Amino acid sequence: MSERVNFGSRIGAILAAAGSAVGLGNIWRFPYEAGNHGGAAFILIYLACVLLMGMPIMIAEFTVGRRSKASTGRAFAVLAPGTQWKWIGFLGVLAGLLILGYYSVVAGWTLEYIVASATNSFAGKGPDDFVASFQEFSQDPFRPLLWLLAFLFFTHYIVVKGVKDGIEKSAKIMMPVLFILIVVLAICSITLPNADKGLEFLLKPDFSKVNADVFLGAMGQAFFSLSLGMGCLSTYASYFGSDTRLGKTALSVGVIDTMIAILAGLIIFPAAFSVGIQPDAGPSLIFITLPNVFQQAFGGVPFLAMLFSLMFYILLALAALTSTISLHEVVTAYLNERFKISRSRAACLVTLFCVVTGVMSSLSLGVWEDKFFGLGFFDLLDFVTAKLMLPLSGFLVCLFVGWYLKRSIAFDELTNYGLLKAPYFPVYMFILKFFAPIAILLIFVNELGWLP
Ligand code: PHE
Repeated sequence: MSERVNFGSRIGAILAAAGSAVGLGNIWRFPYEAGNHGGAAFILIYLACVLLMGMPIMIAEFTVGRRSKASTGRAFAVLAPGTQWKWIGFLGVLAGLLILGYYSVVAGWTLEYIVASATNSFAGKGPDDFVASFQEFSQDPFRPLLWLLAFLFFTHYIVVKGVKDGIEKSAKIMMPVLFILIVVLAICSITLPNADKGLEFLLKPDFSKVNADVFLGAMGQAFFSLSLGMGCLSTYASYFGSDTRLGKTALSVGVIDTMIAILAGLIIFPAAFSVGIQPDAGPSLIFITLPNVFQQAFGGVPFLAMLFSLMFYILLALAALTSTISLHEVVTAYLNERFKISRSRAACLVTLFCVVTGVMSSLSLGVWEDKFFGLGFFDLLDFVTAKLMLPLSGFLVCLFVGWYLKRSIAFDELTNYGLLKAPYFPVYMFILKFFAPIAILLIFVNELGWLP
């Protein structure tokens, strides 16, 4: 086989993986979960989940990717030829394809909001106007589709450029810009009048709100936010050089992802509380509540309101783009390797497929009313992937590296063939064998509503 392309540098590898992890999940879901589930108490639990479960599983995915030097779709077949473990890879590819379809719809909305901010069309509007204009827009049969196509086009363009010149280079530019934007926005937000109430909501620990549900919620959030369970990170790890340190890279990605999530909370809550609005979750938080908050918070100085919301939606678009790239890459790399078609042809197939599922997802929020198992197409994709496929495949990865793969392979990958020390190796293996699979089973059962 020809030499596999690698990321050009260790920092490039970290930024690409962090780009996959940092996404819409950090900005619209984490802050809300934290605020409503005990503030700092939730954050502490979340940190424990990232450390005790997220990091080991991420290292396990890295191990599979770098060891096999194959994208997720083939990695398990390479490491365990002739066995049924190959299905984990297929599961990942399918999950990537399905997530990309609906995730790009929301990602596309960020472009509409960038344009709306830039042309100052939020100026002078009140809360009801924001509700009405979001509903009108998201249910429109055409406009969201144009933005969806635009977003898929950007993703496609970067993936076709390749691992080094596309994925790595774009991450090296986008991640620092994203970081600067989020820090500037957080500082602006914290210095608004009455911001301290928002800080209190996000940061004051309230252990009375912590129950089993909160634990499981934190685990689920850690899973989605770190892009675990579908092989994005294992595909990226197949491009890691032999000197990339798996433990250190996982820790860096975990720290960056968590920091961005907390900073997003520092933007949203102080601004919302400063104008007396109770924040909401999901799409309505970022596309209805926040534009209104920004207008009111900086209402006295329209230019500032415009600038703040423009920066915010650019931030959101960049965060989403680095994630869609990683989703696209999982499938493109698989088709490219497995069927020996060129990268650009593979990418075209993926993009075309996602145009179809994306259009269906988008229309299901408006004109297309058919329901599957009681869910619209968009919600169906979200449910099947985030709630079923990701935990299932994460669970199987733990079993694969914990029980099937030779212990010496796991050790060699973690220590770069004995060059590095890894005193935590036994703990890592214990987590993969017992702790993480049991924890994932619990999340799974809880999310399906089978727990009392
Ligand atoms: N981690 C991304 C986010 O927080 C979502 C994602 C999940 C991306 C799985 C790739 C794979 O938004």
